Amino acid sequence: MKGIVLSGGRGTRLYPATKAVSKQLIPLYDKPMVYYPLATLMQMGIREILVVTTPEDEERYRHLLSDGTRWGINISYCRQPKPEGIAQALLLGQDFIKDSAVALILGDNFIHGEGLFQSLARARAFSTGAINFAYRVSDPQRYGIIEFDAEGRPQRLVEKPAKPKSNWAVIGLYVYDQRASDYAADLKPSARGELEITDLNQRYLDLGQLRVEKLGPGNAWLDTGTHDSWLEACHYVQTIFHRQGQMIGCPEEVAYRNNFISAAQLDKLAHEMRASTYGQYLKALLA
Ligand code: TTP
Repeated sequence: MKGIVLSGGRGTRLYPATKAVSKQLIPLYDKPMVYYPLATLMQMGIREILVVTTPEDEERYRHLLSDGTRWGINISYCRQPKPEGIAQALLLGQDFIKDSAVALILGDNFIHGEGLFQSLARARAFSTGAINFAYRVSDPQRYGIIEFDAEGRPQRLVEKPAKPKSNWAVIGLYVYDQRASDYAADLKPSARGELEITDLNQRYLDLGQLRVEKLGPGNAWLDTGTHDSWLEACHYVQTIFHRQGQMIGCPEEVAYRNNFISAAQLDKLAHEMRASTYGQYLKALLA
């Protein structure tokens, strides 16, 4: 399975903080926001990753992430000229995906929790169809929602419903089989001029091939797109770090635990950042 991080967009809800810099490059507590979705893909065991950026930000992403070698992965880049929809990533990434299954994650989403790991492992083992991940929210009007039938099977996807019949929001992580790019090519832009990921998921649902992994209450899903949600996410990461001594969204740690890199490689990365608590955390992993 390959992975795509969609890291373009305008970030206008965070203006002026994101006027001169891509939203996913600003820090979430101690590390750039894009580290979190990258670490999630790496937790799924994915080592071939495409980062989709705006044309003006590509160089900065390359500067930050380079080719991924130091994390034992392979990172390549692709530009999205305009934010014309999440599903467009599957068209832009067609040559990268080729015949593989693909996990697409939004650059401003982060998910954390115990059950998540099993869900991700199940997603990794899948072969046909698509998987959406759902999280119970108190304000479903703000999200894309999945309705279920009496047997708990996914029945309908509704974008920002005025009168929601379900509290299960679709989060920004999607897994598809090798048909995704072909199906994305059939999509027509919506009224807001975007290729909608909901329409792609609906196609799989219509075929009876959409599986939904519900993330239980022990998991956290945070969207970091507004000033308050960004700050809440920073506090969440800080709290877990202070209380449990556990870093969230640390690609170096995931790389080390998944044996993508050796202890000696991790030690080198830790040494480069020894002045920061981040570097000291990496060093402590080796103790
Ligand atoms: P959005 O929340 O739709 O957009 P945004 O957060 O960039 O912009 P705004 O604050 O102006 O609403 O996007 C969610 C994520 O997906 C975000 O990380 C940006 C990314 N994205 C793209 O990279 N390209 C796209 O075409 C779209 C629609 C989103």
